[in-house]
Amino acid sequence: MQIITTVKEMKGIVKNHKALGETIGFVPTMGYLHQGHRSLIERARKENDLVVVSIFVNPTQFGANEDFDIYPRDIDRDSQLTREAGGDYIFHPSADEIYPMGYRTYVEVTDITNILCGGSRPGHFKGVTTVVHKLFQIVSPTRNYFGLKDAQQVAVIQTMVEDLFMDIEIVPCPIIREIDGLAMSSRNVYLSDEDRKAALMISRSLFHAKEAVEKGERNIEKIKKMIRYLLSEEPLLKPEYVEAVSFPRLELMDFIEGRVLIALAVKVGKVRLIDNIIVEV
Ligand code: PAJ
Repeated sequence: MQIITTVKEMKGIVKNHKALGETIGFVPTMGYLHQGHRSLIERARKENDLVVVSIFVNPTQFGANEDFDIYPRDIDRDSQLTREAGGDYIFHPSADEIYPMGYRTYVEVTDITNILCGGSRPGHFKGVTTVVHKLFQIVSPTRNYFGLKDAQQVAVIQTMVEDLFMDIEIVPCPIIREIDGLAMSSRNVYLSDEDRKAALMISRSLFHAKEAVEKGERNIEKIKKMIRYLLSEEPLLKPEYVEAVSFPRLELMDFIEGRVLIALAVKVGKVRLIDNIIVEV
């Protein structure tokens, strides 16, 4: 396992492997890897000849008052986890390498980026699609592994790939959770013991919603109300949004029909956590 820091070297390596007809599995991340990331790397390992993991805390997807500066970083630990999970290369560039002086180009998906996390984090998805497009250009991947933990991100990137006729595959992968249900996240390290306990209500409320749908509830307003009520049982949780939309088109709807993404964002102290569940009827 090798760490590559320049675009030129990464492109050269990929070119050599492609010349041999090898497939490339790519896992883009911002590092501080956990079992959720690991599941993506392991899947990429199973399905491709070469596995590239990128670790880059992308400044353009953070708002001015967000946690870019304090986002957790630990490249040594990440290298070990990547090696164990079967990654061949880590692409770990500096911000200047990805955004050199004078860069002027962004990639933006419209409409579906104005709701859910895009609604509460203006400009966030423009930063995500810009960096992911750049990374795709550098790594030239065959298959790309994204977690449904960020379900809107999956839908937005899939839309970019289709709209720009990109010949690559997006592989959505299931959410990995702690035994007690909390969705794994690099940001969980910020949670105090008390926050961590309160945060359990996030996944619990979603599991309840799923159960209600399984028992026949179809009214989305009622489901959202139930989730909000459960979240309000924990005073430490400050909900940002609770929403249910079609998946992967992300259209607002009144009743559960087909595949529906029930998603929420919650602040626990200064930490912003997201989680979701996809139901299908
Ligand atoms: P990051 O938050 O590091 O996540 C990297 C990938 O890991 C994403 O596809 C995310 O959905 C997935 N992931 C995170 N937690 C997961 C969990 N509990 N179960 C399954 N998958 C999980 O998402 C980003 O970075 C960035 O926006 C990025 C795409 C790298 C662009 O900067």
